[in-house]
Amino acid sequence: MRAVLLGPPGAGKGTQAARLAERLNIPTISTGDIFRANVKGDTELGRKAQEYMSAGALVPDQVTNAMVRDRLAQDDVTQGFLLDGYPRNPDQAVELDTLLSDLDVKLDAAIEIIADFDEVMKRLIKRAEIDGRADDTEPVIRKRLEVYATSTAPLTAYYSGRGLLIQVDGIGAVDDVTARLVAAVDGK
Ligand code: AP5
Repeated sequence: MRAVLLGPPGAGKGTQAARLAERLNIPTISTGDIFRANVKGDTELGRKAQEYMSAGALVPDQVTNAMVRDRLAQDDVTQGFLLDGYPRNPDQAVELDTLLSDLDVKLDAAIEIIADFDEVMKRLIKRAEIDGRADDTEPVIRKRLEVYATSTAPLTAYYSGRGLLIQVDGIGAVDDVTARLVAAVDGK
């Protein structure tokens, strides 16, 4: 399966991507995780991404698209992948179509995890207390949610129009959400 995971910050994309990927035996590609690893390693990519991430803004498409192109060229993704956090705006979605077409493969699904503002805010504030992720402060979470609403939410219509959209309720216990996702993906 080749799929993208959509949903606001805190919806559970990373949590569920790991579970689904294990079940489907395919890798997860999280653009946020790749950026964070590069920030931690103080690489050139990390230095380019850091200021955008700490402001809750999107890293420029040119940087992000090149990174995803490199990742999708690796051998472990030939049998499928779950993209977590990419695409994040309509231009990235068009770029992904081009990347996949160059690889002569097609996307099977766009899986959107739905969770409301209050719930995701609560989860991310809680994560801030536990993990101390730099962009989990209240003003930056608000900014990330704004960016989601203006830049990423239009992708729901984009993928729905192509018959690829699967929407899953992200509220409830992690296991329950996984069960919903597995059922939705199995029915695809
Ligand atoms: P990214 O890392 O993608 O962050 P995000 O979209 O803000 O997503 P989160 O990791 O906060 O949430 P999630 O939906 O994955 O939920 P999670 O499972 O972690 O991006 C970070 C930054 O990188 C961006 O702001 C941007 O700057 C840059 N970036 C990344 N991709 C980019 C792109 N394509 N283009 C440009 N820039 C890009 O769960 C959240 C918390 O909730 C956890 O503590 C978890 O334990 C908990 N939780 C999960 N499920 C449940 C549940 N069912 N019940 C209760 N708690 C739960």
